[in-house]
Amino acid sequence: MDEDVDLDDLVARAKAARDRAYAPYSRFLVGAAVATDAGTFDGANVENASYGLSICAERVAAATGVAAGARRIIAIAVTSSASGPTAPCGACRQFLHEFNPDMVVVSQGGDGERKRWRLSELLPVAFGPDDLQGP
Ligand code: THU
Repeated sequence: MDEDVDLDDLVARAKAARDRAYAPYSRFLVGAAVATDAGTFDGANVENASYGLSICAERVAAATGVAAGARRIIAIAVTSSASGPTAPCGACRQFLHEFNPDMVVVSQGGDGERKRWRLSELLPVAFGPDDLQGP
């Protein structure tokens, strides 16, 4: 496993975070946990009465880690209300790309099925920090 991340622990952390989701509108609960160069952090989706302002669990977890000093995400675990494993949405893929295009993404459904990808498989040919280099 990449840099010795225990994916079972990371999934457990994501599941615990899911219980703290604030999702009164969709009732779709999501938890995420990131293993980073500064430790492990978690988050849940946070919705808003102005629906479009809702934030996904993956971005809450990643931003929490980055705000605590992390700069490289080694792996992210996701768990949702769905019976099967769900992949991060497109916006989250782009957000995560910033902090390691090759990170491991693992998702576990309520049925226990687990899927695992590299972020680069989920978001090939991405736009990233290197593209901002001037002439
Ligand atoms: N959601 C996440 O937190 N992560 C995903 O990968 C997909 C969707 C949230 C956003 C919203 O609060 C609810 O799930 C339904 O879309």
